[in-house]
Amino acid sequence: MPEFAFATSPTGLEPALKLDVARQRPELRFAYSRPGLVTWKAPGPVRDDDAPGSVFAHVWGRSIGAARDAEAARQLIAPLGAAHVHVFARDPETNAELAPWTEFDAGAPVNRPARDGDVVADVIVGAPGEPVWIGAHRHDPSRPAHPGGAIPVDVPPAAPSRAYAKLEEAIAWARLPVASGQVALEIGAAPGGAALALASRGLDVWAVDPGELAPHVAALSNVHHLAVKVGALRWEQLPARIDWLILDVNLAPQVALHEVARLMPRLRAQLRGAILTLKLNDWAFVGELPAFVERIREMGLPDVRLRHLPSNRREICAVALR
Ligand SMILES: C[S@@+](CC[C@H](N)C(=O)[O-])C[C@H]1O[C@@H](n2cnc3c(N)ncnc32)[C@H](O)[C@@H]1O
Repeated sequence: MPEFAFATSPTGLEPALKLDVARQRPELRFAYSRPGLVTWKAPGPVRDDDAPGSVFAHVWGRSIGAARDAEAARQLIAPLGAAHVHVFARDPETNAELAPWTEFDAGAPVNRPARDGDVVADVIVGAPGEPVWIGAHRHDPSRPAHPGGAIPVDVPPAAPSRAYAKLEEAIAWARLPVASGQVALEIGAAPGGAALALASRGLDVWAVDPGELAPHVAALSNVHHLAVKVGALRWEQLPARIDWLILDVNLAPQVALHEVARLMPRLRAQLRGAILTLKLNDWAFVGELPAFVERIREMGLPDVRLRHLPSNRREICAVALR
């Protein structure tokens, strides 16, 4: 019996996922895809703990097969030895009906966060009338513990942009020691979602952007707006100690990283790490991810991890630590 690997990712991201897997896992052969779900044929057995073949995979694991009804699903899940069943929509646009699948008895708790080492049975629900897709993966600390790779964060109504969620997801996923009293420099800070998140955590935020911050963010005593482009930023404008560098500019990754590299001699001595959003306006940038990682390492941040976060769109989050 041939074995298959599967990945889920937000719809529209499949080209990036396929390109990345073709580069990182050339032994896998693309087999099947639906919006939000891709499978590959493997030359041999696929283990539950198979390392994700792409940073664009929100869930990665062993593909088990399709099930038309609860009984068929139960039969596929039973041999997996799963400690958890994660039920989630393949594509949020399809009005997937999750209820029948969250209520059926698959022999393990449904939609609880996985613990390290647990085998999770993934039940991927498509459009009404479509069979569900069953997969399995073993949870480890590098993977989000919630169904579908979700990273739950509380976003307050006052958040002026999606960047609030992006920042909180990055901190939660990478377990970053971001703490009150630290100092953050954010390049590309308007309208101020990430700045609000950091300021709410008690950080002092230096927000660089020629654009306006939302008035209620600009009014915070621990947010300091520097209304210039990063290229015009002078070192004398910055505080002596910066703990975290945040980058979220709509510039090509090479250009954005060039600007960061220019600042690094000033930041390096004190910096704990960086949260960088790299925009992938051209899918060709997917092939350049290893070069971007190398570039970040050369800046003195050797521990670089990439992940497409739930609130990322055509972009990828790089977390880099000293
Ligand atoms: C995706 S938005 C940033 C969202 C922001 N991080 C937040 O939390 O709301 C991108 C921002 O990059 C800014 N930007 C573009 N080029 C820039 C540059 N050269 N220097 C600084 N900011 C720049 C834009 O003005 C825009 O506000």
